[in-house]
Amino acid sequence: MKILAISGSTKPNSTSHHILNHIKSNLENILELEIYEGIEKLPHFNPAITDEQTSINVIEFRKQIENADGVIFCTPEYVFSIPGSLKNAIEWCVSTTVFSQKPVAMIIAAASGEKAYESLSLILTTIETILPNESRLLIQGAKGKVNTHGEITDISTKEQIERVIQSLITTIRDEDKRPTKLR
Ligand SMILES: Cc1cc2nc3c(=O)[nH]c(=O)nc-3n(C[C@H](O)[C@H](O)[C@H](O)COP(=O)(O)O)c2cc1C
Repeated sequence: MKILAISGSTKPNSTSHHILNHIKSNLENILELEIYEGIEKLPHFNPAITDEQTSINVIEFRKQIENADGVIFCTPEYVFSIPGSLKNAIEWCVSTTVFSQKPVAMIIAAASGEKAYESLSLILTTIETILPNESRLLIQGAKGKVNTHGEITDISTKEQIERVIQSLITTIRDEDKRPTKLR
């Protein structure tokens, strides 16, 4: 099962990166998880850009989404929304169908994070991903749940992350069984 993980933080060693690394190392026997590293290299979205003018970084990003069985987002909240860099990355996909019927999961790792949770839920359902409630997680006070080595120290947070990933896996398996699968 191939999963693309997208962090909404451009900060090295952010809490979001630590969470994605935790998922990668704990589930490597069942998931082939690749963490997307190019978010800050994507240009600003411009709807006037034609297909021929589209940056190779954008094309590669879309391809990585298309080739993944599922996508997991993990992001902080910035100024009561998702970070601009993550919104920009998603905007580059709106005119495509790469997210259409794609099983996804989302984790908001923030101080408070309710607005980012609402916003990302709305964005991901608008672009027609498959996002059951069980595949959504809000980790509040996230920084305090990760130690200086990047390890998640809170047992309940670890369990919640595991449940979200299990939900994503179930969604992918259910989607694979659908006779009308378009991918
Ligand atoms: C510019 C900026 C704005 C922020 N705004 C919010 C906010 O509106 N709500 C919130 O819960 N946290 C906010 N935070 C805190 C982040 O969500 C915080 O960075 C998060 O706990 C994860 O830490 P990280 O930097 O290790 O990813 C903000 C952080 C920054 C840098």
